Amino acid sequence: MNGIKHIGVLTSGGDAPGMNAAIRAVTRSALDRKVRVTGIRRGYWGLLDGDFLTLNSRSVGGIINHGGTMLRTVRCPEFKEKENRKQAYTNIKKLGLDGLVVIGGNGSAAAAHTISKEMKLAVAAVPVSIDNDVYGSDDTIGFDSSVNTAVQAIDKIRDTATSHERMFVVEVMGRHNGFIALETAMSSGAEAVLVPEIKYDIKKIIKNLIAGHKRGKKSSIIVMAEGAGDCNQIAELIKEQTGLRVRLSVLGYIQRGGNPTAHSRVLAARLGNFAVRNIVGTNRAHLAGIQKSSLVAVPLKLVSSRKKRIDHQLYKLVYQMAQ
Ligand code: F6P
Repeated sequence: MNGIKHIGVLTSGGDAPGMNAAIRAVTRSALDRKVRVTGIRRGYWGLLDGDFLTLNSRSVGGIINHGGTMLRTVRCPEFKEKENRKQAYTNIKKLGLDGLVVIGGNGSAAAAHTISKEMKLAVAAVPVSIDNDVYGSDDTIGFDSSVNTAVQAIDKIRDTATSHERMFVVEVMGRHNGFIALETAMSSGAEAVLVPEIKYDIKKIIKNLIAGHKRGKKSSIIVMAEGAGDCNQIAELIKEQTGLRVRLSVLGYIQRGGNPTAHSRVLAARLGNFAVRNIVGTNRAHLAGIQKSSLVAVPLKLVSSRKKRIDHQLYKLVYQMAQ
């Protein structure tokens, strides 16, 4: 058992559908191994001000299908200050934790790495993010749910676009990356996709949109990630240069909430369980990731120092399919 008798679990950063399913998986996997579980409320902030609750099997009942997080979450820049972290470490010692599972995205995994370096504590990160931008895991909990929400929204927008013979620019989330935009564009049959990682030629894209219109396309959808530019400007430019009716729709926070898809729930169960098995079995700080359908323990050092790359083939395929 490697001496692990009591772990803490917290959710941190942006919420995502499947976070609750991950809390459930972590809690029940630990209890199954006779390891006590303490929930930490409001992410790293809860570690600083000692906001804790004991979790048992029943406290995580009936949450697998709920979006958001029962432990609540914050973005906590205060945790970057060493002085503040000392308070967190005092609280961890007082509570008697010998392991910690952090459920969250990139920033959360980086803070988990810092804890593992500064404290003698078994730390595991479970990748949850609608953005799917966590290095070391092909997939993150919540990504599939968020993409499905965006695709359902665009299917509806497509009805209006086709009926009115309009073009729509649809902005999806992704401040620093285009994973949501790419997958959403591919599955909604979009005519164009704009992502922050790939330089685009807007004149060429507009030329293609006009050509599509001339070939008889009744509508066009341009999916853009929020980090790929100013969507108002892009919509205005398309309107000006095509002379066609163009509308803008910003999907926003609806992509973060809602019931997780089956895929997000299953991933939460697998990764949450794997994280607990790993910290109970070894003290290695790691991210519980999935690569080519296999579970992998990725060193946190790699996770916080590398950037996950977008699939350029999929990007090309979106344009190829938009004939
Ligand atoms: O969760 C990731 C993300 O959705 C980004 O794509 C987005 O830019 C950001 O969170 C905004 O979240 P918040 O308003 O909570 O900082």
